[in-house]
Amino acid sequence: NYTIKEILEKGKTIALQEVTVQGWVRAFRSNRFIALNDGSTIKNIQIVVDFESFDEELLKKISTAASLKVRGEIVESQGAGQEIEVIAKTIEILGEANPDEIQATILQPKQHSLEKLREQAHLRFRTNTFAAIMRVRNSLMFAIHQYFNEQGFVYVNTPIITGSDAEGAGEMFSVTSLDMDNLPKDEEGKVDYSKDFFGKHTNLTVSGQLNGEVAAMGLGKIYTFGPTFRAENSNTTRHLAEFWMIEPEMAFYNLDMNMDLAEDLLKYVIRYALKNCPDDMQFLAERFDKEQTQKPANERSELSLMDRLDYVLNNQFIRLTYTEAIDILMKSKHNQKGKFQYPVEGWGTDLQSEHERYLVEKHFKTPVILFDYPAEIKAFYMRLNEDGKTVRAMDILFPGIGEIVGGSQREERLDVLDQKIEQFGIHAEDMWWYRDTRRFGTVPHSGFGLGLERLVLFVTGMGNIRDVIPFPRTPKNAEF
Ligand code: 4AD
Ligand code: MG
Repeated sequence: NYTIKEILEKGKTIALQEVTVQGWVRAFRSNRFIALNDGSTIKNIQIVVDFESFDEELLKKISTAASLKVRGEIVESQGAGQEIEVIAKTIEILGEANPDEIQATILQPKQHSLEKLREQAHLRFRTNTFAAIMRVRNSLMFAIHQYFNEQGFVYVNTPIITGSDAEGAGEMFSVTSLDMDNLPKDEEGKVDYSKDFFGKHTNLTVSGQLNGEVAAMGLGKIYTFGPTFRAENSNTTRHLAEFWMIEPEMAFYNLDMNMDLAEDLLKYVIRYALKNCPDDMQFLAERFDKEQTQKPANERSELSLMDRLDYVLNNQFIRLTYTEAIDILMKSKHNQKGKFQYPVEGWGTDLQSEHERYLVEKHFKTPVILFDYPAEIKAFYMRLNEDGKTVRAMDILFPGIGEIVGGSQREERLDVLDQKIEQFGIHAEDMWWYRDTRRFGTVPHSGFGLGLERLVLFVTGMGNIRDVIPFPRTPKNAEF
C-alpha cells in the first residue's frame, strides 16, 4: 500500500503495475477524471474512469469529499498537469459525502476564507492550505529534534503541572482536584489547598525553563519541547493560550554563545523545511505573494515569501543592545509623528510588538537580536550585568512576527539570585531546589525559548497564529 506521494514519486519506475490508491475526492470531472488526495502531498493523483466499465449507480455516488479505495494500473499520463495517472479497474466507495450537505462546509470546492476554515477546524485538514501548513509544521518539529541531537543535546521532559510561575507574570491556568462548588476553606476563609491533590496550589506550566536549568546542571546541554499555557488575555494574531515551546538550556554557555545557537538553530530548521517540503512551500509562497497584492500598499511585504526566507538564511542577524534600540526608536520619525500606539518615552520602556516590528521591518529590514534589557522589565532569573541595572537577556525579532525567541544567561550567583528572588516577591522556600544548583557546583549557563507557532507563522507566511496549530486555544475558544 503506497501513499499518493509515494506513487507520484515512484510511479514512473513502477508504471503498468497495479496499485491500490485510497483518498478523498477533490474533484470528479466529466464523469471520467477523479482528482484524489490522501494528505501525504499537496498533489492529487488522477484516476481515470472508463464510465462504460462501471455501474452507473456507483459513479453517481462519487462526489467531492467522498472517500475511495481504487485499484488500478499506473500509466504515463497523456494529459498536461501530471506525469502519471491511474486507470481504475475497481472502485470501492468507503464513505459517501452528500453533495447537498457539503454545500454548507469548507469541503465544497471553492475559495474559503481562513476565518471560515477556523470555524470548521475539524474539516480544514482536508484543505490544501491547512494541510500544507501541517506538513511544514511537522517538518520543522522534526528538524528541531534532529538539530539538537546532532549537537549532543539531551531531550528532557519537564512537567506540565507545576507549582511555580517561571516567568513571574502570573498568567496561569490553575489545576485542581478540589470540588469547585464545595471548596475547603481555612480559618481565614481562604481556599485550603493543602486538601488539593498535590497538597498545594498548582497550575499548568508557562515554561519548562526552571526544570530545564536543573537538568542542564547535570546533563550539560538539554532541550525541552512541549506544550506551555498562558492565561494572558491577549487576543492577537501572535498569541495562543496553549502553544508549543522549544527550550534549550546549556551549561557553560554565555549570552553570546546562546545567541549563536539560536541563530544557527533557526537557520537550520528553515533550511530543512525548504528542502523537505518543496511542493508545500511553493504552494504557500504563491499564496503569500498573491495575498500581498490584495493588501493596502503600506501593509504589503516588500519581499516575496521565498526572498524573505532566503534573506534570513543568508544574512547575519543584527545584534544590538536594548539601549541602542531605544535611541533609534526615540529618534525615529515614526515615534515623533505619533504613529506608535504606545510612544517610546525613554529608557526603561517595555517594548511593544509595534516597536519591535518597526526595528525589524522598517529600520534594519533584517532579523534583530536585542540584548541587555533593563532588569525591571525581565524575569528574576536573568543574570545581572556589572552596571547593576541591565540583565543578560536577549530577544530575537523577526519580520512579520516580532519576538520569535526570548532567552538569557541565567543568574548563577546565589547571593545575587537571592536578592532578585526577594525583590520580585517570590517565596524563597518554594525555590529551594532551584537554589540548590547554585549551592552545589554552580556554573554559568544560558538558554532560550522558541515559540513553535511563531516559527511556523514565519516559514509559512501565514498572518494569524490560529492557522498554524491544529486546534487553537484562544480567549473564548476551546471548540474542537
Ligand atoms: O519570552 P518567553 O515568555 O520566554 C520564556 O518563557 C523563557 N522561560 C524561555 C527560556 O528562556 N527558556 O517565551 C518564549 C517564546 C517567545 O519568544 C514566543 O516565541 C513564544 O515563546 N511565546 C508565545 N507563542 C505563542 N503564544 C504565546 N502566548 C506566547 N508567549 C510566548
Ligand atoms: Mg519574551
